[in-house]
Parts: sequence; C-alpha cells; structure tokens
Amino acid sequence: MATHDIAIIPGDGIGPEVTAEAFKVLDAAAEVFGFKLNKTAYPFSSQHFLDTGEIWPDAAFEEVKGMGAIYLGAIGDPRIEVGKMEFGIIARARIDLDLYLNIRPIKLYDERLCPLKGKGPADVDMVIVRENTEGAYTGMHGFAHKGQDLEVATQTMVWTRAGVERAVRHAFELARSRGGRKHVTLIDKANALRAQDLWMRVFALVAAEYPDISTGHDYIDAACMRMVDTPEDYDVAVTSNLFGDIITDLGAMIQGGLGIAASANIHPGQVSLFEPVHGSFPEAAGKNTASPIAAILAGSMMLDFLGEQEASNAIETTVIDLFTSSRLKGVRAADHPTNEVGELVVAEVRRLGTPA
Ligand code: IPM
Ligand code: MN
Repeated sequence: MATHDIAIIPGDGIGPEVTAEAFKVLDAAAEVFGFKLNKTAYPFSSQHFLDTGEIWPDAAFEEVKGMGAIYLGAIGDPRIEVGKMEFGIIARARIDLDLYLNIRPIKLYDERLCPLKGKGPADVDMVIVRENTEGAYTGMHGFAHKGQDLEVATQTMVWTRAGVERAVRHAFELARSRGGRKHVTLIDKANALRAQDLWMRVFALVAAEYPDISTGHDYIDAACMRMVDTPEDYDVAVTSNLFGDIITDLGAMIQGGLGIAASANIHPGQVSLFEPVHGSFPEAAGKNTASPIAAILAGSMMLDFLGEQEASNAIETTVIDLFTSSRLKGVRAADHPTNEVGELVVAEVRRLGTPA
C-alpha cells in the first residue's frame, strides 16, 4: 500500500477548522481507495509565534523537504506586523522550496454559483498558471529617508529567463494534457512594465514548439475585463506572480467565491504545497461557518500530485455532484456549518468508493 508523508500546517484563523474537514475527507479517501497518509502536524501559526517567538524553525523546514507534500490551512493575523507571517511561512515555502508553479483552476461547478449573467460551467473552466517565485515577491525592497518628506520606497520586480520559461512551458504542457481548447493566453502588462518584454519573447519561443496549441495575449487590465465578460475565451493562462495573485481572486468570485478556490504550489518531482486560495478570515475563526470546500479541493489537488488520481477525482466529482444536486447551496459563510460540509463529502466519497 502506498504511503504518503504529509506535513500539515493548519495555521491561523479558519485554517484549523477547514483543515480538519479536509483531512476527514482525505483520510476517508485513503481508506476507500487503499493508500495511507502518514501525517505530521506542525503548530506554526501567528499564535505560535506570539507564544514562542518561532515562525518556522530551520530544523522543521528541513524535515518537510523529505515529505511527499505540505498541506497549509491559512496564514494571516491582524495582531502581527503586515507580511511577517506571510513571508515567514507561505513565501518561505514557495521561494526556499522553489515551488515555481502556482496552479489555480477556475472551474464553475454549477450555474447557480456564478455571479455572471448567462454564464454556466461550459464558460468558466480555465487554469491560471501563476509564476510563483519571482516578480514582485522576491522581497527586494527598501526605503531611503524613512519617515521624512523626501522618503523613497522601492520594490523591484525580478524575472529570470529560466524562471519565466519554466512557467510558460508548463502552461503549454498543461494545455496539451488537460483536454480543453488547447489555448494558452499570456497575461502581462508589457506595455507599461517594459521588462515584461522578456515574457513576450519567451512566450513566443516556447509557443513555436507547440504548433497544436493556439495562443492569445492580454494585458492584465484587459484580462480582468475579459474574465467577467467572456471567460470562455480562457483555457490555460500564464502570468507573473503579482498579476496571478490578483486575477485568481477575481477568478474565485466567478467560480462561486473564495470558499471554493484551491491551489497547488508545485515543483514537479519535489515536495510541494497545497492550500486554499482564501486567507485566514479571522472574523469567522472558530465559528463553524466558513466553507471547507476550497480546503477539501486543495486536498484533492494534493492527492492528484501524489499519484492518487482515482481518489482525487472522486473528491472533485463528489463536490460537483453536491452542488449540482443542490445539497450544497454555496460557500458563503453560514451557507452550511463547516463540519457538516466535511461530513457530507465524506459520506459521498465512501459511497463512490464502495462497489455497488
Ligand atoms: C495568495 C495570498 C498570498 C500571496 C499572501 C498571503 C502573501 O494572497 O496565496 O494568493 O500574495 O500570494
Ligand atoms: Mn492572493
């Protein structure tokens, strides 16, 4: 029986409660589909930092490198300096483990969930490939004359040819394999950020190697417009780190809300990290109102990465079915109690996995 070593960081706010539901589902899927999850839970969170002063100690960071995957609930706490925990945990994993792909599917499961008039599941089905280690997120910033009238603040966006190319290439491979329209769109702001000329040139070179894939190019502002106007134009889109961050929140809304959007931070062949797109939603923490669907779907993406396709597909199919049959209304706070959603998914996954 395959055993997968999983590091779990439930984190802040609603992180622990949605993570608990996700693992109810993942443990049930493991039992039904015949594999084992060997879980190690880590306490790293804002509260843990306030209690101990420790964010993600090096020894524990080394330990996760030997595991199959990391599962992260959510990070962020208003009591702590902006960005400290984000850079200590999420960005640390992404950059120090070189998780260069952030794969964010935007898939509408049921027309009811979509705020766009006249759009249905056939119109909203795309994957955003967000470059995950470069751009505005390298941490290269500084201040001069701090606090004075002449203060200067800089933040440098950094792109390497190799970094751009590996993200773009993945987008083309994904377009080929996912069975969609075989279309890749480059989203950038090359008309204003002239350094993104690198993205355009690399994209053109890689595209030439994939004559079976059609291509498009949208500036990020136009992409925001197209996303709500004709989302059916997108199949796979590749973009830089910051634009990928922003457009996937917009994408989450057209698929039903942040409570449904999942993501995979991947370095193929190495330990990778899976998390919902949403944050820690501190106002809802401990209230049993937050939807665990995004967390459950992040778990499904993790199983797919670990080679457990059957179990991964069963979880996604179950979630789709629960929406289309209206047993799940939606993913807004208070649509359903958190724990009941997990239990509903568990029951269905068990049913799917049991021979009739
Ligand atoms: C995300 C988040 C992070 C990001 C934050 C928490 C640093 O918004 O994963 O989308 O900006 O990438
Ligand atoms: Mn974000």
